Amino acid sequence: MKIACLAGDGIGPEIMAEARRVLDKLDLPGLTIWEGDVGGIGYRRHGHPLPPETLEMAKAADAVLFGAVGDPGCDNLERHLRPEQAILGLRQALGLFANLRPATMFPGLEDLSALRPEVARAIDLLIVRELNGDVYFGEKAIRRLDDGRRQGFDLMSYAEDEVRRIAHVGFRAAQGRGKRLCSVDKANVLETSQLWRDVVIEVSAEYPDVELSHMYVDNAAMQLVRNPGQFDVVVTGNLFGDILSDQASMCVGSIGLLASASLGEHQTEFGTKGLYEPIHGSAPDIAGQGKANPLAMILSLAMMLRHSFGLEAKAAQIEGAVSKTLADGVKGADLGGSAGTVEIGDAVVARL
Ligand code: NAD
Ligand code: IPM
Ligand code: MN
Repeated sequence: MKIACLAGDGIGPEIMAEARRVLDKLDLPGLTIWEGDVGGIGYRRHGHPLPPETLEMAKAADAVLFGAVGDPGCDNLERHLRPEQAILGLRQALGLFANLRPATMFPGLEDLSALRPEVARAIDLLIVRELNGDVYFGEKAIRRLDDGRRQGFDLMSYAEDEVRRIAHVGFRAAQGRGKRLCSVDKANVLETSQLWRDVVIEVSAEYPDVELSHMYVDNAAMQLVRNPGQFDVVVTGNLFGDILSDQASMCVGSIGLLASASLGEHQTEFGTKGLYEPIHGSAPDIAGQGKANPLAMILSLAMMLRHSFGLEAKAAQIEGAVSKTLADGVKGADLGGSAGTVEIGDAVVARL
């Protein structure tokens, strides 16, 4: 079982170290761990945010464990050299079109949600975010109009097969959970969204056991804070899913808690090849201070064991230890506590 660990920038290495300690503690047989440079550190050391050797490593691995990329010192580089291109490039090169972002309330954390505890208690949802298309990957430029004004331009588009395959992921996920799927779009304004909705409805014919609903993204943002308990599985496009998942994290309590799995169609001998990362970024404002919450990273490791290696019991063991850590009051500054990154890692390892 070959795992490529790409820690990246900012808090990436700090949280990756804690996930690695959890992995070491599990003492799984047959693991091969590789490490590669990615993001700003990739650019600084190799001249590219996704150096060819890192890309080859990710391709050869059965799963990629990814920290975070992003470096304020790189924000003025040409776009193709910026750290964020590494994660976008990996998602595209590995065909990882389905991004699963679960948001579930942890027992004992209700009071720390940005929502009232009685509203937050019911959160148990999964955002299925399309990850290979949308305005992210369309033609883009800052160009000159004929009259000399600058114009920013990003093409939003989805082809029907791109919508169909993520819709199937959404329906299948719903079948395995509460059997309700909410497709989020902006079909009242965008043609891209109208096609999205049409295709989701077509696919729904194959899933008569799943109750399908549709919601405009602005309403979805509002409903997510009004009554998040109404959602089971949400399927949506790349940009809307990006935004709604950060929002969902604060409904749970912190962005430092939400993990993700990015999957495609490639099967290895162990499971589905995937990339696993927290939904948050490199948090430059707290990097190097030892106070980042490593739980999203550790929960991403659990998702990796589940989806890429079929080790459901081990995944559940990690998730149980994380839950217990929080229930025991071990919390970082993001949750109003005082535990540092290593202390939280220690607490999880001790509870495995
Ligand atoms: P961010 O998610 O890095 O940080 C937002 C806020 O949340 C910050 O105040 C940060 O301190 C806090 N935060 C994030 N993770 C935390 C954790 N584990 N524990 C405690 N607090 C945490 O978003 P940003 O500030 O908008 O972006 C910073 C950089 O990260 C940018 O370069 C951005 O492009 C990049 N980014 C990368 C990824 C990724 O690698 N997949 C995701 C999001 C943003
Ligand atoms: C995320 C991030 C990325 C995205 C950026 C860094 C490209 O925000 O993983 O959520 O927008 O997908
Ligand atoms: Mn994001």
